[in-house]
Amino acid sequence: MEFLNSPSKAHDKCTEVRKNRMTIGYVPTMGALHDGHLSLVERSVDENDFTVVSIFVNPLQFNRPEDLETYPVSINSDKKLLEAAGCDMAYSGEFADFFPGLAMEDAIKTELPCKAILGLEAAHRPGHLEGVQAIVQKLFEVVGDCRAYFGEKDFQQTLVVKELAARIGGVDVIVCPTIREKDGLAMSSRNTRLNTGQRDTATTLYRALFAANQLWTTGVRDAKTLELIMRNEIMKEADLQLEYAAIRDPFNWTAETPTSPVDQAQALIAANLGTVRLIDNCRLGTLTS
Ligand code: PAF
Repeated sequence: MEFLNSPSKAHDKCTEVRKNRMTIGYVPTMGALHDGHLSLVERSVDENDFTVVSIFVNPLQFNRPEDLETYPVSINSDKKLLEAAGCDMAYSGEFADFFPGLAMEDAIKTELPCKAILGLEAAHRPGHLEGVQAIVQKLFEVVGDCRAYFGEKDFQQTLVVKELAARIGGVDVIVCPTIREKDGLAMSSRNTRLNTGQRDTATTLYRALFAANQLWTTGVRDAKTLELIMRNEIMKEADLQLEYAAIRDPFNWTAETPTSPVDQAQALIAANLGTVRLIDNCRLGTLTS
């Protein structure tokens, strides 16, 4: 696997690959790779001639400085994992490579915000999704036409990148299932920061989703009722500070909870456990155990 510490060299390489009529699969990451990331890389390897991964901890998407400072970094093991998963090229860069001459506050203001940056994450992590949009636009420009793989765990992010890709053209966004531990906890780089007790408590998010899923299977379609059962489940754990337990129509994103019964429902939760922010979500009716 080739590792390039330069987005412009990565751009040249991707252009050369496409000239050779090879298809490119692309997995953007912030490193600290786990099996969730590797499942995206493996899918890309299966579906494309050449797989590219980027590793860049994007400071624009951290609204809390301490979260950025404590974000896990493991570049050497990341490279080994990518190589073993069949990745062909990985690249990284510095902030100034992506946003030459721009200060952070100016970099975030460059583009018209996508419509999916509305409610939930926007209300609780102001600036986060704008920061994601800004870097993903640059990352897509580096790689060019490709299939880009994102995990469903960051559901609202997937809506933003789909909207962005439709605006730019040439990038086909593929959303892949959330990869979970055996007890249901969604894999996340931040899980490494949980102590043993917190690690057990963290599974409450999955239990809350599961409770809503069960209620859905009995025919309940009222979003507020589905939200309440998730909230009650989270409240059982005093250490969890709930940000939101929400139901949204996945095909018609709104800032507020739908008031009429929903035919399709995405259940989304965010909660803090100590200094670690956990998020999870699922399409109701899809959880089986
Ligand atoms: O999902 C992530 O890891 C990040 O938000 C992304 C898409 C790599 C942008 O920094």
